[in-house]
Amino acid sequence: MKDYPQFISPEISGLPNEGKITCTAPSNIALVKYWGKKPVQLPENASISFTLDTCKTITSLSYKKRNIASKDFDFDLLFEGKPKSDFKPKIQSFFERIEEYLPFLKQYTFTIETSNTFPHSSGIASSASGMSALAYCLMQLEKKINQDISDAELLKKTSFLARLGSGSACRSLEGPITVWGSHPDIEGSSDAFAIKFPHTIHHNFKNYQDTILLIDKGEKQVSSTVGHDLMHGHPFAQERFKQAADNLTTLKDVLISGDLDTFIEVVESEALTLHAMMMTSLPYFILMKPNTLSVINKVWEYRKKTGSKLCFTLDAGANVHLLYPDSEKEEVLDFITSELVAYCQNGQYICDKIGLGAELL
Ligand code: DP6
Repeated sequence: MKDYPQFISPEISGLPNEGKITCTAPSNIALVKYWGKKPVQLPENASISFTLDTCKTITSLSYKKRNIASKDFDFDLLFEGKPKSDFKPKIQSFFERIEEYLPFLKQYTFTIETSNTFPHSSGIASSASGMSALAYCLMQLEKKINQDISDAELLKKTSFLARLGSGSACRSLEGPITVWGSHPDIEGSSDAFAIKFPHTIHHNFKNYQDTILLIDKGEKQVSSTVGHDLMHGHPFAQERFKQAADNLTTLKDVLISGDLDTFIEVVESEALTLHAMMMTSLPYFILMKPNTLSVINKVWEYRKKTGSKLCFTLDAGANVHLLYPDSEKEEVLDFITSELVAYCQNGQYICDKIGLGAELL
């Protein structure tokens, strides 16, 4: 018995001969973090994220039907116009994982062309936007074959496939806020795919800003995949998974009520807990840099002095995401340029905000 029979494509006939599909999918930033997973790519706890707007991957999938199906997947990969062989193994294993759900994959020769709107090696995770963009293109091809699939089913299966590429990628298809992982207080939530936050979001979060300070653009010493793995047998794992579930319950109410003080408390605590899990793993590791801590202290000082609702979050790296209401945009940008840019590598930062998810171009 297959794990998710509802996502297996029906028997297919009439495969299109050739064509090209182009789409774009954004990155996302988790408010309650996914850290720890079970096979295959199922989260230990539910997570919730803001979908971003500016940080995106643009992917084209050119497909050409083969006369006979190939034994292995037949694809070329171009990143910013040039062949990129070190990305191929990740796509190869993605194809292996999703083949049972997209049985036509070996019938085609594919060329995947991809590029990001954010600077290469900025330390911004491109796996979320990259895997969701590729899953989106593949599902647009499936739609040409399986025309009966409804828009809702299409979206669900796209998220399901993206998850098999990279867990957090399943949260990049819709916006402005998505939840991945089964949670008793979020109706329709599932470990297998992400859903759009199913409640009206308070206007305080409209156009919520995310300015990403690029603290360290170097290659991380420990990948997310290894970090997730270290949650197996981690002494605080069970407490952490429970805490994440409780934080999601709190955040659900906050997103509806607009209570920004509680938002700040949950979001910053989640960021620090994520890094605390890394520091208490065996082997232990630290992804923050001295400038990450300097920025955090500056944010706290600024908030104390001004009463601002600016807060920070972190992903699995040294960069700092600064989250703040649209109404504070001018003041916070002044603060960033006068006091925080000095902590950024080459003075680089990216202004992003909450966005709506993947789209066909
Ligand atoms: C810290 O989704 O990158 O950003 O499933 O192994 O590809 P894999 O990991 P990934 O992990 C992201 C972890 C995080 C928190 C989050 O986005 O929820």
